[in-house]
Amino acid sequence: MNRYICIVSGKGGVGKTTSAINLAHIMGKRRKTLLIDANLTTPNAHIQLGAPILRRTLMHVLNKESSLQQAIYTHESGLRILPTISSTYDLKSLKYEKLKDLLKDLSGEADIIIMDAAAGLGKEAITAIEVCDEVLIITNPELSAVLDAQKTIQVAQEIGKTIIGVVVNKVIGDKHELRIDQIEKLLDIPVIGVIPHDPYVRKALHHKQPVSYKYPRSKASKSYEELAGMLLGEKYFAAENKKSKSLYRYALKMLGLK
Ligand SMILES: Nc1ncnc2c1ncn2[C@@H]1O[C@H](COP(=O)(O)OP(=O)(O)O)[C@@H](O)[C@H]1O
Ligand SMILES: [Mg+2]
Repeated sequence: MNRYICIVSGKGGVGKTTSAINLAHIMGKRRKTLLIDANLTTPNAHIQLGAPILRRTLMHVLNKESSLQQAIYTHESGLRILPTISSTYDLKSLKYEKLKDLLKDLSGEADIIIMDAAAGLGKEAITAIEVCDEVLIITNPELSAVLDAQKTIQVAQEIGKTIIGVVVNKVIGDKHELRIDQIEKLLDIPVIGVIPHDPYVRKALHHKQPVSYKYPRSKASKSYEELAGMLLGEKYFAAENKKSKSLYRYALKMLGLK
């Protein structure tokens, strides 16, 4: 059975696409993984990976102008992506039910499907949540991002989805930020990943590469490696501190691996 992991946030610009790309790249080294750009109105995963000329994308597959296989690309990092390019015409005629049917039937194409969702809680973000079994919330250590995450969690829980945890991205660690324990209190969901604010993320973006591929030793890459390991149920945290151990157990439970 394949796993569908949806990356959502509520607020835009917090690092959903960055996280989706890096998790898909790292998890792709261990399992057959596919990144889907489910940000249909403003898709940009392919742009962050080099804006190649794409003859076939998710929209072509939906319009039956392409097979699914023709619209899957492999980036030089090894990451596999089903990209999206959408015109206003496409969006007007888009049938979300068709999209759901397509996304549900990816048998053989991937064991792990990572969906980069749109910001907000409009139809496209909700559709991505509905299609997935597992929801990963991305936020930043600031109140507006955390409050938007709170709303997203509520909606996902109302739909009956499992929230696998919260990832706090762009953490500097100064006194102006919300602390991790404050974020956990506000959201009532454990923080399973902390990604530092790291200049290498933007350097990698400049090179159109996942940071985990271009700068694997950077702090952000190491944090994404840990998070990916946790999501895959690997024992990354075995020898670590108590909090990490309990988080690891929590993650395994949420993922149905324990
Ligand atoms: N950990 C990080 N450190 C530094 N910059 C980051 C980090 N994560 C994301 N960014 C930058 O923040 C911006 C928004 O990220 P993006 O992933 O596009 O957000 P979203 O998909 O949530 O809108 C991008 O310029 C990206 O390079
Ligand atoms: Mg994005």
